[in-house]
Amino acid sequence: MKNLLTTTELTISEINEILEDAQYFLDGGTWSLKKNLFVANLFFENSTRTKCSFEVAERRLGIDTIPFEVSTSSVQKGETLYDTVKTLEAIGANAVIIRHSEDRYFDELEGKTDVAIINAGDGCGHHPTQSLLDLLTIKQEFGGFNGLKVAIIGDIRHSRVARSNADTLVRLGAEVVFSGPEEWFDDEILENGVRFEDIDTAVATSDVVMLLRIQHERHEVKNDRTAEEYHQAFGLTVERERTMKPGSIIMHPAPINRNVEIADCLVECERSRIFKQMTNGVYVRMAVLKRALEQSERGGKDVNTYKE
Ligand code: CP
Repeated sequence: MKNLLTTTELTISEINEILEDAQYFLDGGTWSLKKNLFVANLFFENSTRTKCSFEVAERRLGIDTIPFEVSTSSVQKGETLYDTVKTLEAIGANAVIIRHSEDRYFDELEGKTDVAIINAGDGCGHHPTQSLLDLLTIKQEFGGFNGLKVAIIGDIRHSRVARSNADTLVRLGAEVVFSGPEEWFDDEILENGVRFEDIDTAVATSDVVMLLRIQHERHEVKNDRTAEEYHQAFGLTVERERTMKPGSIIMHPAPINRNVEIADCLVECERSRIFKQMTNGVYVRMAVLKRALEQSERGGKDVNTYKE
């Protein structure tokens, strides 16, 4: 059993191993299981990319997915997350992929179940597989991370993507700056030399410009700026994109609010790697599933795996 709960628990060599495996899968490599393994995708919060790409990754690896929808499950009768996971374990799940609105929902599960827990996003906390797919996208583009400048722009306080990416990118040798509305900025996440920079400087001097969605669902106080006001003040406008360095790229974890954090016409422009990130998500999730299930085997379960 090998959990993936946060990026901070991953060593640099584990990150590199996952990225190498993801690229191996992307290049057509395979990994097969000699015995059926079962996973369940538990999405307590909405998702398109993470949920669908885990489902594709599971099918590509030949893993059996236990159909599970929160809306038709006994969660609706009050069953807790803990009892839901213990139930899935009892009926044969080897891993569960969980997205939940509560920060660190996994603390109540860790050490109390033999199924591998893969965090698909917890509240404002962590989104490890998003960070890993972002790293793969950046590595494909620049060959590595040392000396790169990455600007993460937008709703920093409520973004699990900002937290996970700042952690991994800084440890891999990149310079990370945050930008966006100061009221959505949080001094607590200024760690490891990450600093705040005004948007015009951040856009013009970075190798990677990563925009974030405004996480309205996590705001206690309603944002009273119009979409146009936000776009002009903190968005990647057409004018700002013209100041970007040659060879620099645009990223966004999506979903995108076009003409808010990024101009509509830039979403699919030459610099954009936004849909490439989504493609990479499938292969990164294959690598994460492989890591989780390989460790199940080493943990004593009768699972025989081989890499072709
Ligand atoms: N980037 C991301 O997590 O997208 P979803 O919310 O659609 O999964």
